[in-house]
This record gives sequence, C-alpha cells and structure tokens, in this order.
Amino acid sequence: MKEDFINCGIIGYGYWGPNLARNFFANNKFRLKGISDINLARLQKARDVYPEVLLCEDYRDIIKDPGIEAVAICTPVFRHYDIAKAALEAGKHILIEKPMTSSLKEGEELLEIAAKNKVKIMVDHTFIYTGAVRKIKEIIDSGEIGDIYYFDSVRVNLGLFQHDINVIWDLAPHDISIMNHLLGVNPIGVTALGADHIGNGLENTAYLYVDYGNELIGHIHVNWLAPVKVRTTLIGGSKKMIVFDDTEPSEKVRVYDKGVEIVNGDVDSIYKTLVQYRTGDMYAPKIDNIEALKLEVDTFYDYIRNDVQIEADGEAGLKVVRILEASQKSIKNDGKRIQL
Ligand SMILES: NC(=O)c1ccc[n+]([C@@H]2O[C@H](COP(=O)([O-])OP(=O)(O)OC[C@H]3O[C@@H](n4cnc5c(N)ncnc54)[C@H](O)[C@@H]3O)[C@@H](O)[C@H]2O)c1
Repeated sequence: MKEDFINCGIIGYGYWGPNLARNFFANNKFRLKGISDINLARLQKARDVYPEVLLCEDYRDIIKDPGIEAVAICTPVFRHYDIAKAALEAGKHILIEKPMTSSLKEGEELLEIAAKNKVKIMVDHTFIYTGAVRKIKEIIDSGEIGDIYYFDSVRVNLGLFQHDINVIWDLAPHDISIMNHLLGVNPIGVTALGADHIGNGLENTAYLYVDYGNELIGHIHVNWLAPVKVRTTLIGGSKKMIVFDDTEPSEKVRVYDKGVEIVNGDVDSIYKTLVQYRTGDMYAPKIDNIEALKLEVDTFYDYIRNDVQIEADGEAGLKVVRILEASQKSIKNDGKRIQL
C-alpha cells in the first residue's frame, strides 16, 4: 500500500518549534516540507538541520502552499490566533501550541472556522502524552485510588520571565490540561490570586483554585521567582493517593496506600467520630519513556487521516483557555470567584 503521508509545515522555530520539527521529520507518516520564522538567525539554525526543507520568513508562504496539508504553530501566544485562523481558512489542519489562544472568544472562533472548513485542531498539551500522566490516568480509571478528592500541583522555578504573558498563561496550561484530563469533569468556578513583584504588569506568582463541584478541588501554584525547580502534583483519592514528581529521574509516580477512615467513637465521649489513619505500602509503577511529542505526532496523524477521537482536541484547548481567562479575571478582582 502506498504510504499516505501528510506534508506539513512549522511556523515558529524558536525554543519549542525545533522539538516539533524533529518529531515530524523523524515520523514517516509526515513529510516536513516548510519552516517559517521571522527571525533569520532561527531560519539559519533550521537550514543547518534540515537543508532540504523550504524556509521562509513569511508564514503565509507555508499557508498558501497547496501541497501542505497540516501546520504546527509554535509562535508566541499572542500570534496563535491570527496564524491559526489563516491556516484553518486555507483548509489546513493545525497542531497549535498551548495555550491555544489568548482569549476564549478567539478560541471559540477558531473552533467554528475549523468546523466550517472540515479541518482538525489539535493542541499541544504535551504532558497528557507523557508516560507518567498516561500511567496516572490508567490508575485512576482502574478505580484503584477510589473517588478523587483533590488535584494539587506546584510548578515553580526561576524564570523564564515572558514578555507577552504572565506566569498563569505560561506555566498553568500544563497543570490545567493534566488536571482536566485526569479528572474528566468540567469545573464550575475559579478563584485566583497573583502578584507582579517586578512591576511589568505581568503576574510572576499565582495561586489558582478550581472548583469541580462535589468537593472535588483543583489547586495550582505557579511561580517564576522560586529558587528551586519544583514539579510536584498530589492527587488524593478515597482509597489511595498519588504523588507525581516530574523532577525525579526514576519513580516519577508513586502510589501510596494511605488514607483515613471515620469510625464512631464512644457515645459519651466528646469525640463522637474518630479519624483513623491508614498507612500501607507504596509502589512506583513502571513508566514507559516514549517521547510525548512522538506519540502526539502519531495521534495528530490518526486524527487527520482516521478521524480517531483524541484527548487534546480544540475543545480541550478551549477548556484550558476558559480556566486561564477566569483566573485572570479573578486576580484582577482581588480573588473574586468566577463562575464557569
Ligand atoms: N508544549 C510545551 O511543553 C511547550 C514548551 C515551551 C513553549 N511552548 C509554547 O510554544 C510556543 C512558542 O514558545 P517558545 O518558547 O518556542 O517561544 P520562542 O520565542 O522561543 O519562539 C517563538 C518563535 O516564533 C517566531 N515567530 C514569531 N512570530 C512569527 C511569525 N509571525 N511567523 C513566523 N515565526 C514567528 C519567533 O521569531 C521565534 O523564533 C508558545 O505558545 C509556548 O507557550 C510549549
């Protein structure tokens, strides 16, 4: 059977774009045909690695090319919307970086354009394709940890300060996409607090509280002004609890057989109910280390060619942007709860 490969292009070859380029180039279901960047030094870097690939400063040269079927958009966030819109209107499928857009309105519009033009939007929610998050999802779906009580995540380090977006729009898309994916329900409210310590109008430290209803809560702490890098997520369940530490070289995921049980106390006692603590074993499941972007690129192909359902579709991208936008609104209103 003739290989039904997809010609693709990359727009934005800065820090992250080369990772996508490498994975598209290495995947025989795709043929990397063009790379665009407004920065000539970045195009020169691309030339060094991919001498056969068409290089252009103007992204419209990629979008106009009738031979290109799919486009990856890896520009700064404020350029996502107009480039994505142009690509979708030209009938290209897109793999767009996180966060999908700078506003919910822009995201909704992109989904409408994609539907009208019968093309697909996939969002690069990289983490949900990592071995660690896939394993956590498997454990949760098996019922092993019971009902989930909370998702509590810390993603802090020193920098990199962005010029166009605050720490929430930069770092929290990772945690929000993981959280939405693992919890599998829609949130009902968001409360957030944040601070801009260097005075450039962009918060560098923020705390997000996401209410999923029925006592299920999500909490995310993101910070560009931390002395150490922390990437830890706690997931509490009624039966077991999970700790995901992404800085661990091995044993990134640990499952603890710990919890509490409520027992009735002596009726005459002031302690009518007693909390009993349960501490059992801990294990670290084996995690496969296939590169997330490899799996993502394979998934993008199946989405386009075989119409398979995917987790990181435009709807998932929109759900992340909805929480980001609500967080921003809450911060600007001194932590007021924003209903979703
Ligand atoms: N999925 C992940 O884990 C992950 C990690 C890092 C960054 N990102 C996302 O990737 C995107 C890019 O981030 P980055 O860190 O690579 O930024 P970057 O600034 O290093 O690179 C962006 C590149 O886009 C180019 N560019 C800007 N406007 C352009 C245009 N109109 N046409 C063509 N090229 C243009 C810039 O010259 C630059 O080289 C952002 O959306 C970011 O959130 C995702």
